[in-house]
Amino acid sequence: MPAYGDEIAGNASVLAYTDEVREKTDHLYAAVADFTPELEWRTLAPYIAAINDLKKEKNAVILAHNYMTPEIFNCVGDFAGDSLQLAKEAAQTDADIIVQAGVKFMADTSKILCPDKTVLIPDLGAGCSLAASISGADVRLLKEKYPGVPVVTYVNTNADVKAETDICCTSSNAVEIVEYAAKEWGTDTVLFLPDQYLAKNVAAMTDIKIITWAGACEVHERFTVDDIKELREANPGVIVLAHPECPPDVLAEADFAGSTSGMSNYVKDNQPKNVVMITECSMSDNVALQNPSVNFVRPCNLCPYMKKINLPKILRALQTMEYEITIPEEMAVKARQAIQRMIDLPLTRQSMYNHQNAPEVAATESRASL
Ligand code: 13P
Ligand code: SF4
Repeated sequence: MPAYGDEIAGNASVLAYTDEVREKTDHLYAAVADFTPELEWRTLAPYIAAINDLKKEKNAVILAHNYMTPEIFNCVGDFAGDSLQLAKEAAQTDADIIVQAGVKFMADTSKILCPDKTVLIPDLGAGCSLAASISGADVRLLKEKYPGVPVVTYVNTNADVKAETDICCTSSNAVEIVEYAAKEWGTDTVLFLPDQYLAKNVAAMTDIKIITWAGACEVHERFTVDDIKELREANPGVIVLAHPECPPDVLAEADFAGSTSGMSNYVKDNQPKNVVMITECSMSDNVALQNPSVNFVRPCNLCPYMKKINLPKILRALQTMEYEITIPEEMAVKARQAIQRMIDLPLTRQSMYNHQNAPEVAATESRASL
C-alpha cells in the first residue's frame, strides 16, 4: 500500500517522524487531536514540520480557506477565513511568497492584488464549477446586451471575467455590493454573475433587479429541501446553517444562511446544542474544533477541487516554486480595480440571507441565449 506522500503527491518522498519533527510539531497536535489518531499524526507531522520550516526560510505565508482539511487549516495555515478575508490578507501581507491553500480563483485574486509577489497554487486542478461556467467573452456579450448595467461578479471567477467586471463581491458582502453598484451607476438593475443561486438569494434581500448567469456551485446545488427535512426529523431541534450558494428553497428551510465565516461566527456567538452546516465537509470539522461544546451533525458534500490540496502538495509547491500564477498585465490591471473597489468599500455588516420575500431575478442568461 502506498504511504501518505506517495499516494497523495505522486512523486513526493515519504518523510520520517523523527525526534526533531516531534519537537517541532507536538504543540500543534492538540488543535487536531479530535480528528487525527496518533498514528495518522505521525504521517502528517513530518510534512507540517517541513512546510513550517520552509515558510520561514523563504518568507512565505499560507492562506487557508475554511474548506481546507483541519491539518492544513490549523497546523500550516498562517491566515484562515472566507474568500473575502483571504483576499484582504493577501492585499496586506509583506511575505515574498503566498501559497494559496484553496482553489485557483483564490490564487488568481492574490496574484492580482500582489503582482510583485510569487503566488503558488499547489495543484492546478484545484478549479471551481462556478469559475468554469463563464468567460470574459461571455461578459462582453452580456454588456452589449445590457448597456449601462453595472457588472458585479462573484470572486469565484477567472481573471478574464474579473477584468470585465465593475466590482467584485463574495457571499459575505453580496447584498451590500449589489446595492452600492446600483447607486453608484445610477441604475435599478445589476448584472450579478455567475452564480444563479447566490443571485436569487441576493435578489430576495434587495429591491434591485438582478440579471444573472446559469452558473452553479456543484457542491452546494446538490443539497435539497428533502435533505433538510430528513435532518430535522432525525435530529429534533437541530439548528440548520446553509451557505448562500445553495438553491433558494434550501435556504428557506435553514435557520441561518451566510458565508463560510458567517456560519462559523454564528456557531461561535450562539453555541447551539446541535448544529448542521449545509456546505463543504471540512467546514464542520474546522468549526467543531473551535467549539468543543457544540454537537455537529455532519451530512456534507466534498468539493473535489478544494480536496486536491494536501500537505505533500503544499510542501512540493514550496520546494519547487510550482505552480506559479501569472496573469497578463493588462488583464490584471482591470481585474485589480474590480477587486480593490470591493476591498475599499466600508461595509458595515455581513450579508444575511432569509426568505421573507420570494426570490426572483429579472433574467438568467446562458451562453446559448447570447
Ligand atoms: P466563502 O468562503 O466566501 O463563503 O466562499 C465559499 C466558497 O465556495 C469558496 O469556494
Ligand atoms: Fe467552487 Fe463550490 Fe468548490 Fe467553492 S465549493 S470551490 S464554489 S465548486
